[in-house]
Amino acid sequence: MSAQPATARSYSAVPAQPLRKGGVRIADVVKVYGTSEAGILAVDHCTFDVPPGEITVVVGPSGCGKTTLLNAIAGFHSISSGNIYLDDELLCGPRKLKAQPGPDRIVVFQNGALFPWKTNIENVTFGPIMQGLLSRAEAYEKARDMMADAGLRGIEHNYPGEMSSGVRRRVEIVRALMNDPKILLLDEPYRALDSLTKSVMHEALLEVFYKNRVTIFFITHDLEEAIFLGHRVVIMTTRPCRPKKILDIDIPHPRDYSVLTTKRFREFMDETAAAVHEEALKAFAAGEKER
Ligand SMILES: Nc1ncnc2c1ncn2[C@@H]1O[C@H](COP(=O)(O)OP(=O)(O)OP(=O)(O)O)[C@@H](O)[C@H]1O
Ligand SMILES: [Mg+2]
Repeated sequence: MSAQPATARSYSAVPAQPLRKGGVRIADVVKVYGTSEAGILAVDHCTFDVPPGEITVVVGPSGCGKTTLLNAIAGFHSISSGNIYLDDELLCGPRKLKAQPGPDRIVVFQNGALFPWKTNIENVTFGPIMQGLLSRAEAYEKARDMMADAGLRGIEHNYPGEMSSGVRRRVEIVRALMNDPKILLLDEPYRALDSLTKSVMHEALLEVFYKNRVTIFFITHDLEEAIFLGHRVVIMTTRPCRPKKILDIDIPHPRDYSVLTTKRFREFMDETAAAVHEEALKAFAAGEKER
């Protein structure tokens, strides 16, 4: 690995916990909303892997079917055919087209879902205490450690409404990780943030990832975000979606914002932008025809 520049933040590349598995295989998945004759074909024979302990980022034109895939993995929606596996377990397939939602797959929603009447640490500990997985004392101890790791020390007893949106996003990630999921499913979590806050969020997410090595499935429209975070970027076709191109981002981890100015990063940006642009033009042309 190349040496980090002197200004780079240093991250621990060694996971604090043993690697949790959480690989997802999406195999020949089709999703039609409505009836097959009059329905909307959202996903068409889509196949790709989300490797365990890595960050896989999905990009693609608006309405191509990204959230549909995430919902199928989470168990919110059924698929029409194909298989989805989590490690060796079949989540959904021929005889069971809808996965059972479970604490092994946690979705972090775009608009967040913290209880405004609870403090940050009450939000973070709510799930494990309610489910009887941890005692209050155990949950608070774990939460304090995880919040400190995520740069949230000192705000445990504040309310979400007192925090910036960037801090709230971080509290949400910690809350999700409290359940020790195998995979985190994030659907454009930073869409509403300004670019400066986003850059802080990206480094904070990587820092949490380096400590936990949880598998992450991340959807975004922001190509810079995709390449900065992803071990792998899956570029989708316009609807119905299937991978157009899968890029393994060979920029070494741990990463920090200095990689944005490297030649390799620009090469990945150019390649991704060209592929996404081509699909966006197709989506635009299809929209024109439908008028
Ligand atoms: N519950 C539903 N019923 C019917 N059609 C739906 C439903 N959910 C999504 N669709 C349609 O399926 C297609 C894919 O939607 P999806 O939300 O998965 O796209 P997306 O890639 O996440 O889009 P965006 O980037 O805008 O979030 C769209 O045409 C959408 O209108
Ligand atoms: Mg979406």
